[in-house]
Amino acid sequence: MELKNQRWSDEEFLAQRKEVLSLWPTGSEIDLTEATDYLRNLPPEKNYAGEIVKAEKEGRTLVQPRGGVALLEDHIALLQCLQDQGGADLLPSTTDTYTRNLKFQEAQRGIEESRRAGRSMLNGCPIVNHGLKAVRRIGESVRRPVIVLSGTAFPQITAEMGFAGGLTAFLGAPLSYTAAYTKDLPFEQGIKNYQYVDRLTSFYQEKGVRLHREQPGFLTGTLIPPGIGIAVAVLEMLMAAGQGVKHYSMGLCQSLNILQDVAGLRALKEVGRNYLGRFSYPDVFFSIASHQWMQAFPADEPRAYAVIVLGAVVAAMSAATQVITKSTHEAEGIPTKEANAQGVKATRMAIQLIRSNRFPESKELLQEKKMIIREACSILDKALEMGDGDPVAASLRSIQAGVLDIPWAPNQFVAGKVIPVRDASGAVRYLDHANLPFSPEILEYNREKIRERERRDGKKVDYEAAIFDVTEISKMLENG
Ligand code: 5AD
Repeated sequence: MELKNQRWSDEEFLAQRKEVLSLWPTGSEIDLTEATDYLRNLPPEKNYAGEIVKAEKEGRTLVQPRGGVALLEDHIALLQCLQDQGGADLLPSTTDTYTRNLKFQEAQRGIEESRRAGRSMLNGCPIVNHGLKAVRRIGESVRRPVIVLSGTAFPQITAEMGFAGGLTAFLGAPLSYTAAYTKDLPFEQGIKNYQYVDRLTSFYQEKGVRLHREQPGFLTGTLIPPGIGIAVAVLEMLMAAGQGVKHYSMGLCQSLNILQDVAGLRALKEVGRNYLGRFSYPDVFFSIASHQWMQAFPADEPRAYAVIVLGAVVAAMSAATQVITKSTHEAEGIPTKEANAQGVKATRMAIQLIRSNRFPESKELLQEKKMIIREACSILDKALEMGDGDPVAASLRSIQAGVLDIPWAPNQFVAGKVIPVRDASGAVRYLDHANLPFSPEILEYNREKIRERERRDGKKVDYEAAIFDVTEISKMLENG
């Protein structure tokens, strides 16, 4: 039977749970009743959902870095540094690649090697290996809420460990992460895996524990046209809501064209509200996150700071509730804790400088927002029509048909035919829209914008230009 957007019964969920927890011995430490009590007794300022709701009401932009290292003590020191030196509002626990691929034996070896080497030999914190008590120590060592960031299509046991360990939010979503982090995984499996996480979230929610789910938004981290990003995010939110999730945030990656980025974030809010309403999920709270530049970064500090600060400005000017930060070490790899904290600090400073100024609703902004909404809704409506109104079937069938397409995705089941390119102003347009179900009006808008770049540059905007655009920002000013 084809997978549907139907809430799993307790029996179905609990039956799956046995299998999930058996993946690694620490799974047996997790007891839902005990964990529910633990979570209920956390101070309110450690509750991620609560902090987001408050910030959204007050129109504040919360600053959220990523970060994770192999050893528990070092990971705690990292989080304290991000909190105390950077002033991060929300704290991360990024997991390592082995954890993301359920290779816990290898993660264990990474822990041991890190101990011997005296530094992290993993690219994140293996929370499943560390086990329940250790994860609770992470949350108990800081004053702010912690989110588990695990770029994976296999999130179940990691989400179990994070939630039971008192980390009150979990990042990840089925379409984004199946597309970006797997080559051969069918989307149906990725969706099932996340249905589990969403159902786990609602299981706690129904026992009075508010947990937050976050959608990653950056997809393949290349130039993602906002219309595509929004369509994916909204489908993912509808699938989470289908399992009973009540607190959600959706993100978009920045293109660093201020007007388009602001328009995209505002469009995301409107489209999200619209479709939640249509699906009668009125009691789902959702908010918006802006991801600082997700593509190749310039290598040196001043240029990297410019990218980071512009990202802070975009988030503040669009009143996004969260901004996910980068550091000046991005081009090299995992940042030191100090560099990571400095990225947070620079971002906070820029947000404060913006004060309560918001990007004006100019004619240009409204026009851009309108077109983004049209693009997103064209994809969503066609997908939902193909899925007979069911967001799960809509996702599966539209991806298969390329009606929903994600540029540069490694997953073989994504058509990968859409080619994005920048226009003269740097906004992301479609050089090739492939099978995206766009009206002639949308296509003409895109074409005209691309023609402006052609007129400016005096040459054709082609595939070569699209490739140039992928690395352009990392190379800007390189020759003086
Ligand atoms: N520490 C800090 N940042 C990390 N990222 C991934 N792993 C870590 C880590 N352990 C960030 C990088 C990457 C993005 C997806 O997450 O910036 O580009």
